[in-house]
Amino acid sequence: MITRRDFMKFVGGGFASAMALGGYAFAFEPLARLNVTRYALTPPGWTPGLKLRVVALADIHACEPWMSASRIASICRQANDLGGDITVLLGDYATGMNFVTRYIHSSEWSKALAILQAPLGVHAVMGNHDWWEDKTAQRNGGGTTFAHRALSDVGINVYSNRAIRLEKDGQGFWLAGLEDQRALIAGKKWKRKHIQGLDDLDGTLAQVGDSDPVILLAHEPDIFPRVPTRVALTLSGHTHGGQVRFLGHSPMVPSRFGDRYAYGHVIEDDRSLIISGGLGCSIAPIRFGVPPEIVVVDLG
Ligand SMILES: [Fe+2]
Repeated sequence: MITRRDFMKFVGGGFASAMALGGYAFAFEPLARLNVTRYALTPPGWTPGLKLRVVALADIHACEPWMSASRIASICRQANDLGGDITVLLGDYATGMNFVTRYIHSSEWSKALAILQAPLGVHAVMGNHDWWEDKTAQRNGGGTTFAHRALSDVGINVYSNRAIRLEKDGQGFWLAGLEDQRALIAGKKWKRKHIQGLDDLDGTLAQVGDSDPVILLAHEPDIFPRVPTRVALTLSGHTHGGQVRFLGHSPMVPSRFGDRYAYGHVIEDDRSLIISGGLGCSIAPIRFGVPPEIVVVDLG
């Protein structure tokens, strides 16, 4: 027979574990952990002898207390120590959440990101939240957002359906950056029935002028089925690995492909996609099983 005392112990224990788990997912994992996740690959067609280390940061979602300017600065200092040839930023600098004690102005978070340094530069694309939080950009249905301008102002290269050729030790490669695939919110106010993307994959890749390998930056991984084999590697963020992930699966992923592009290195038809679990949180300040991470990719 279960006594009242046993029952209270059981309830108390359950409550304590729930509190501990909640504390972990609400405070410890989003705030205190920072992983460096490493990948090494030689994509088909990669130039022999071209060794390139890419450091990628995604989904910063600047806001207090979860992602303060000082925390962004500290992440950037750690990223600088990873020996990257090139640093890329995969979008969603804007808050994206209501549980905040203070919003951080774009001039503040961009100043923290300006700490980033790499021999071949720092290069950025936008995410959906950078568009969604800019009402003027929503009204205009295009152009630039406050995030495009803030990053450009601190000398970071911003890509909106653009490809450029870079070289390491005389060996070339292309860096292509896609504009956001979910940039424009639907609604009467904006005179749009559906969410609209501003991405132009064909127009971006048309700028690639020789046979050197291509790295594509695309905030949302959903573009991947349309990416041709010509692209050696696609780098994405956006999913945060679902923010809750266990046993290699994420139950809630903001992707029309569900768990397929939730996290990590995905290879389909010899094409590679790496999805970063990102650094911040959106909707709610929760992370479980997918700690904030800096991604390092060694190509060659
Ligand atoms: Fe996003």
